[in-house]
Amino acid sequence: MAGLVIPLMTFKATQSCEQSLVEQHAHLQAHLSETLQGLGEVLVYDSQSHHQKIYHEQCAALTHMQNKLGFIASLSQSLVACMASVTVVGVMLVSALLFKNAQIEPPDFALLVLLSLASFDAVSPMSAALQGLGAVQRAAQRLFDIADQKPTCVTRHNPAPISQNFSLNFDNVSFAYQKEQQPVLSHLSFSMKAGEKIAIIGPTGAGKSSLVNVLMRFWDVDDGHIFIGDKDIKDVDLQALRAQFSVMPQKPYLFAGTIRDNLHLANPQASQADIEEACYIAGIHDFITALPDGYDTFVGENGHALSGGQVKRIALAQALLKKAPCLILDEPAEGLDYAMEADILSRVIKHLDETALILITHRHVGIDRMNQVITLKA
Ligand SMILES: Nc1ncnc2c1ncn2[C@@H]1O[C@H](COP(=O)(O)OP(=O)(O)OP(=O)(O)O)[C@@H](O)[C@H]1O
Ligand SMILES: [Mg+2]
Repeated sequence: MAGLVIPLMTFKATQSCEQSLVEQHAHLQAHLSETLQGLGEVLVYDSQSHHQKIYHEQCAALTHMQNKLGFIASLSQSLVACMASVTVVGVMLVSALLFKNAQIEPPDFALLVLLSLASFDAVSPMSAALQGLGAVQRAAQRLFDIADQKPTCVTRHNPAPISQNFSLNFDNVSFAYQKEQQPVLSHLSFSMKAGEKIAIIGPTGAGKSSLVNVLMRFWDVDDGHIFIGDKDIKDVDLQALRAQFSVMPQKPYLFAGTIRDNLHLANPQASQADIEEACYIAGIHDFITALPDGYDTFVGENGHALSGGQVKRIALAQALLKKAPCLILDEPAEGLDYAMEADILSRVIKHLDETALILITHRHVGIDRMNQVITLKA
C-alpha cells in the first residue's frame, strides 16, 4: 500500500511543477534562439544586458523548479525506502512471534521477509516513473495542440479544375488580418489576362504584399472574390492554384546549401544552361562565376554569406526558373541602383514573353512598360 500511495502522492504534488518545467524550458529555448538569430541587432543596440537579464531570470526560475522537483523526488524515494525498511522489520517481528508460537515453519519466516522486500522492489520504480509523467503529458499536449491545428485555408472536397488559359480577376476584395482591425485591402478590383504585365504600387503598408498572401491563399479574403480563369480560388485545388504563379517574395529565404541547390528548389529539372540564363537575367551570373566555387558556393544559413541584394537577385533567378503562367515579383529592386533595376527589369520583361507579370514596387522604374498600374492606398 505504502509503495503505491507515496508514488501517487508524489505524482499529484509534482504534476503541475513538471508541466510548468516543460513550458519554462520552451521559453528559455525560444529566447536563446531569438537572441542568437538577432545577435547583430542585440550588439548594435547594445542590449546584451537586457537579454542577459531575461536569460538569467528564466534560468533562475528553471533551477528553482528543478530544485523543487528534486526535493520532492528525493523525499518520495526516501519515504518509500523508509517504509520498506519499517515494513521488513515489522514483518520480521510478526514472523518471529508466529514462529515462537509454532504457527509458522522456519522456511515461512524467510519467505515472508523476502516477500515484503520483493513487493517494495516491484513498486519502488513507480515513484520515478509517475514523477516524469506530468512532463511527458505536457509535452504530448503541446505536440497534439500543434498537430490538431486546422489550416486556415484548405482545398474543398471536390476542387474545380483550373482552365488552361490564364486570367486573374480581383472582384471587390476586402481583407483584414484580424477581424477587429482596419482592412488591409478594401474593395480592390482589377483583372489581368494571359501575358499581361501589371504593376502594383503604393506606399509602405498599403497592402501590396498582403495582396500576394491572399492570392496564394496563405489567408482567405473576407469579402469579394478572386477568380483564376472562371473559378473562385477557394474552389480550386490549393497546389494547382499555387502552380499558376512563380513568386519572388519581398523577404526571400535561402536554405543552407549551395547556390545551385537553392536554384534547383524552384525547378529541380533546370539544366545548367537554364540556371545560368536565369542568373544572367537577374544580374547575378557574373558575381557567381567570379566566386572560387561558382554555383557550388555554400550560401550559409538563410544566405548569411551573401549580401541582401545578392540574396534578392538569387531569389529573382529562382522565380524565373519556375515555369508558371504568372510571375509575381515583390519589390525585386530593393538594394539595387536605378540603372541596374531598369536593366534587370527590361531583361525580365523580354524573357517573360507570354508569361504574365505582377510587379510590386515602391519605385516607378519600368512602370511605363506595364499594361496596367494599380495603385493601393495606405
Ligand atoms: N502577418 C501579418 N499579420 C498581421 N498584420 C500584418 C501581417 N502582414 C502585414 N500586416 C499588416 O498589413 C499591412 C499591410 O502590409 P503589407 O506587407 O501588405 O504592406 P506593403 O504594401 O507590402 O508594404 P511595403 O511596401 O513596406 O512592403 C501593414 O499595416 C502590416 O502591418
Ligand atoms: Mg510589401
